[in-house]
Amino acid sequence: MTAILPATEPAAATTLLTHALTKPSETRSLRDLVTAVDAGAAWLADPAAARAALHDGHNPPLYHAWRDVVPARTTPAADGPVRWHADLVLYPGAVPAPGTAEPPRSIGHWNTRTQVEVFQVLTGRVLMLHTNLVDGTPVLAWRSCGPGEHVHVPPGAWHLTVAEHAPAAVFNIYTGAEPPGTATPAELPKYHRAAPPRLGVTITGDQLSLATDPSHPSTWPVQHLSASPDWAAPLTDPHGLATLYLECDDTALSALHDQTLRHSDHTAWER
Ligand SMILES: [Fe+2]
Repeated sequence: MTAILPATEPAAATTLLTHALTKPSETRSLRDLVTAVDAGAAWLADPAAARAALHDGHNPPLYHAWRDVVPARTTPAADGPVRWHADLVLYPGAVPAPGTAEPPRSIGHWNTRTQVEVFQVLTGRVLMLHTNLVDGTPVLAWRSCGPGEHVHVPPGAWHLTVAEHAPAAVFNIYTGAEPPGTATPAELPKYHRAAPPRLGVTITGDQLSLATDPSHPSTWPVQHLSASPDWAAPLTDPHGLATLYLECDDTALSALHDQTLRHSDHTAWER
């Protein structure tokens, strides 16, 4: 007797994984995080503990990133062509510094003011923190995402990823500013350089909490989000960001770009 299996199609994540297996990843470790803190580009609640861990020879990988895991794309726009890049990032779940409440995390950075960036969690669970503007007031958006969920980071926002349940894999696409075909990924003006918010996350048991600098009280009210903005969901659903990027024509990506800029008050950030 022959078993008849239902017809299925591989998920887009399978394509991403296949591409990732053909190229090396970049690894960011605790040393990179501490270097960023020392340079004023990242903030830690307990930097002394992180430095002590490094001194003791503890330098765990925080994440592995496959930059341009699939080829870049270019879409037309009124102001000129828009270049898109796509990364796959794996958070193995290593605790940065043993004995501290610092959860597995990225380093965090500011996006450029016109940068469109969207994340889709593929597996695991991540907490996405990003600055946001609500009626012109800066807030910190707090969003826990499981597989298939998306986060639209507003242009000009600072954002940080925390791995709640690891290993966690996250696919993201973002726009760069370089003319198509003239820059390598290493030359991308990917980040806006500015001091980070003195904000982080600590974990106690399974409970994540916002960490702030007691000597610089946070001026960022927390905005707890459970879903993408109403305007954003139809741009990626129902098939998801990876399928959109891999299989859809320019129209869908152009709509993502146009709608994101249209719904973002990206000129109002104060640095
Ligand atoms: Fe970013």
